[in-house]
Amino acid sequence: LDKNDYDGKTVLVTAGPTVEPIDPVRYITNHSSGKMGFEIAKAVKSRGGRAILVTGPTNLEDPIDIETIHVNTACEMYDAVMKLKDNIDIFIGAAAVADYRPERYEVNKIKKSDDNIELKLIRNPDILYELGKNKGNIILVGFAAETENLMESAKEKINKKNLDLIVANDVSMEGAGFSGDTNIVNIIDKDLNIKEYPLMSKTNVAHIILDEIKRYFNL
Ligand code: PMT
Repeated sequence: LDKNDYDGKTVLVTAGPTVEPIDPVRYITNHSSGKMGFEIAKAVKSRGGRAILVTGPTNLEDPIDIETIHVNTACEMYDAVMKLKDNIDIFIGAAAVADYRPERYEVNKIKKSDDNIELKLIRNPDILYELGKNKGNIILVGFAAETENLMESAKEKINKKNLDLIVANDVSMEGAGFSGDTNIVNIIDKDLNIKEYPLMSKTNVAHIILDEIKRYFNL
């Protein structure tokens, strides 16, 4: 392996969950640990590239010598990415961005009463979709986390979000998806060629994603 094959490339990676507050003590989030995205950023760096990591809250240490930007909500992640997007070559969206947030943030803790209450959720901006609208020369790589109809949904996301590659993981499979150190992925390109990979460490998944990007674009 050419150790410096990402020399000169700037890769923006999103990682982790987003956290959408309801009131000062409650929030909505998901099971993302950030591991997948952090491994991608580290792999870029180890191959001579410049990685920028935008991450939601995780228990991971900031990777050494990688510019790491911390955000909480999907809107904050969106803003951070939009500020950086004009100066990158590749975007890889490994974050599990909340699709919805509570319509209202209650400044004071919501009091318990005997009644049921309703929480209204509104759409968050879709970071990948926005990047895809004005893609320019950026290579756009998304993830698809699904529990059913994995390939159908992944193909739909490629088209809808104008992606170049999508990394599909069936998060209902043992050893795949959230939290653990391993993942099981299929990588699908714009022309709908599918590559299936066996269970492997998230470190190795990170490297095969970088290999695929290089191969597909003759970098
Ligand atoms: O963090 P780990 O514990 O290591 O787990 C890894 C992972 C399961 C989180 C990762 O492998 C993964 O699948 N990340 C994407 C999770 C996800 O939100 O998938 P999705 O199918 O809902 O979203 C599709 C794509 O659109 C993703 O690239 C996502 O980052 C992006 N998106 C989604 C919503 C939104 N508002 N903005 C986005 O950019």
